[in-house]
Amino acid sequence: MTNKIILELKNICKNYSTKNETLEIVKNLDLKIEEGDFISILGQSGSGKTTLLNLIGLLDSPTSGEIYIDGENISVNSSNIDLIRNKTIGFVFQFHYLLPEFTALENVMIPALTQNFSKKNEIEKKALKLLQDVGVDERAHHKPTELSGGEKQRVAIARALINDPKILLLDEPTGNLDNETSEKIFNIFKQINKKNRQTIITVTHSRELSDISNKKLFLKKGILSEQ
Ligand SMILES: Nc1ncnc2c1ncn2[C@@H]1O[C@H](COP(=O)(O)OP(=O)(O)O)[C@@H](O)[C@H]1O
Ligand SMILES: [Mg+2]
Repeated sequence: MTNKIILELKNICKNYSTKNETLEIVKNLDLKIEEGDFISILGQSGSGKTTLLNLIGLLDSPTSGEIYIDGENISVNSSNIDLIRNKTIGFVFQFHYLLPEFTALENVMIPALTQNFSKKNEIEKKALKLLQDVGVDERAHHKPTELSGGEKQRVAIARALINDPKILLLDEPTGNLDNETSEKIFNIFKQINKKNRQTIITVTHSRELSDISNKKLFLKKGILSEQ
């Protein structure tokens, strides 16, 4: 049985124009990702990994080419792109970006509350369950400053999952963590991918993280390849 294609990039180019030159960061990139895939993207610093992830995550628009998510051609210029992104994509970055004035639980709830405030009780239950899944439910009522680095990143993972994203995007998600903590976080991703068949795309320097993915892609000079 073949899985459905959850993400397709067709002939994507991304250029940055500076005063003197045009930098071609992503060149004629085609990519198909199936539902439930766990893809890692490797490449040297400056090779365009974050640029590519920002395109997939609908944070930035390609210079040319098309992005299909679950069969739908998505334009970053459409007026409701924030809503589409919020419903479709979960992000975990190297830095957690938790809101300091809110508790862990509230941070997880916020992306869902902004869409559906009337379902606050349901959202709270779901957020608690997610915090439990990532092993930090005992810290639900702590503020980010009262959490360790690993705990903060766990909360950020729970937050990324609150709207059941079609694609979970990770940009160096353990870049700020020690090896032991990173390993625990890797196991969380492995579980989410296995148990929930969550599609994951991660950019990473970590061999351990890329080793648990089911496909490694290498970005070199704007071109994505399997070696
Ligand atoms: N807004 C921008 N304007 C011009 N150049 C940029 C911009 N963003 C990134 N770049 C350049 O694009 C290249 C790829 O950057 P990036 O995607 O952040 O790489 P990576 O995440 O692989 O380290 C780098 O050479 C960077 O300097
Ligand atoms: Mg980067």
